[in-house]
Amino acid sequence: MSEIAKLSFDGNEYELPVTEGTENEKAIDIAKLRGQSGLITLDPGFKNTGSTQSAITFLDGELGILRYRGYNIEDLAEKSNFLEVSYLLIYGELPTQEQYDTFAKEITYHTLVHEDIKKILDGFPSVAHPMGVLSSLICSLTAFYPTSLDPNRTDDEIMLSIVRLMAKLPTFAAWAYKNKMGHPVNYPDNNLDYCSNFLKMMFALPAEKYEVDPVIAKALDKLLILHADHEQNCSTSTVRIVGSSQASIYASISAGINALWGPLHGGANQSVIEMLEAIKEDGGDTKRYLDKAKDKNDPFRLMGFGHRVYKNFDPRAKIIKKAADEVLAKLGVNDPVLEIAKELEEAALNDQYFVDRKLYPNVDFYSGIIYRALGIPTDMFTVMFALGRLPGWIAQWKEMRENNEPIGRPRQVYTGANERGYKEMGNR
Ligand code: SDX
Repeated sequence: MSEIAKLSFDGNEYELPVTEGTENEKAIDIAKLRGQSGLITLDPGFKNTGSTQSAITFLDGELGILRYRGYNIEDLAEKSNFLEVSYLLIYGELPTQEQYDTFAKEITYHTLVHEDIKKILDGFPSVAHPMGVLSSLICSLTAFYPTSLDPNRTDDEIMLSIVRLMAKLPTFAAWAYKNKMGHPVNYPDNNLDYCSNFLKMMFALPAEKYEVDPVIAKALDKLLILHADHEQNCSTSTVRIVGSSQASIYASISAGINALWGPLHGGANQSVIEMLEAIKEDGGDTKRYLDKAKDKNDPFRLMGFGHRVYKNFDPRAKIIKKAADEVLAKLGVNDPVLEIAKELEEAALNDQYFVDRKLYPNVDFYSGIIYRALGIPTDMFTVMFALGRLPGWIAQWKEMRENNEPIGRPRQVYTGANERGYKEMGNR
């Protein structure tokens, strides 16, 4: 028997069912609230509002727990690989060797994109931000695969779209980088694994032989695992709400890429490095920047710090911080901004303003330092986030569709003018 919440208002009392999840999270189900009471709820930013029930990812913000389909992120980052984690998120179970091999092979043989897509790419000036290029190229897949627009497409057709997305996003990401550099694009190499193929498409140059560094490929694979899903964050909620109108999965993922781009969300990894560089240029005065972050009159925020859900350490940040030390040591890279980041973290964790607001480093605080060491330019960092988040977006879109969720359409409280008559131009 589910529990009941009682609401009393205007002399009436309403009973609302309470839903409980598998991790004992409880939610008041307000599906019938307006019908019973005429009331709606109001929660800008949905800070206290659940939009769905999902079996994909579990977060505990107070304890700093992150699990994909029940598996701790620490185990997956240590023992798994990105394609296996992608399979887990999308299908719900870890694959057998045969399932894994089929999934990997399917993706490998869909990495090539229609040659006409280069005409779209060529239309972008080299100053175009790679995130804008990426969302445009992904949305262009609706033109090359028009059957994806059919709201009644079969499950097999949806799975083919999913494979195409997993396979072609790395190609588009590398092409967006080449467009920015003014270099010729590289075509996929089907003899390479997912991350090695991406690195070669990114960095191979016509005049030189490119060898993938296995240290870099492994570090990239771990970073992609850490970014793969994160329950109902801003970009995932965007993917779900666009998909809820029965728009194609390509249009939904393209929308998610655009939502991720913002500096408060996935764009933070780029902003963190820009912030650390500014502090370095400014003589490394971390205290001045902490004071700016605490000053209500200063729009500056400590990028890479704080989180809507984590009120403890973001478990991903812990793993990335450790990986940053290891990767830079292995590559023999000495990056002064890593020391500035550690100094900033230390100071913030001991500052009452940050302690009171439970602001800890999030996934974006250290990731840019590794991306930089891997040779990835700053304005490609959020593209890397999108590469990692793609299987999560796909899994969430698929779950929304399989659960036949209704089109997303929130209510509002109107605060504008009351009814008034039209006045002719001369009488205003
Ligand atoms: C990601 O949702 C996800 O799961 C996202 C993500 C994922 O995997 O999908 O984890 C990825 O987006 C990580 C977050 C990356 N963004 C940043 O690092 C940008 C800097 N951080 C913030 O802007 C902020 O912390 C947010 C956006 C992440 C969360 O904002 P909230 O939950 O809306 O909290 P808030 O803005 O209401 O802040 C609460 C208080 C405020 O102070 P008071 O008004 O109470 O005095 O904390 C302050 C804020 O001013 N605050 C900060 C701060 N973050 C919050 N002050 C200084 N520096 C910061 N970074």
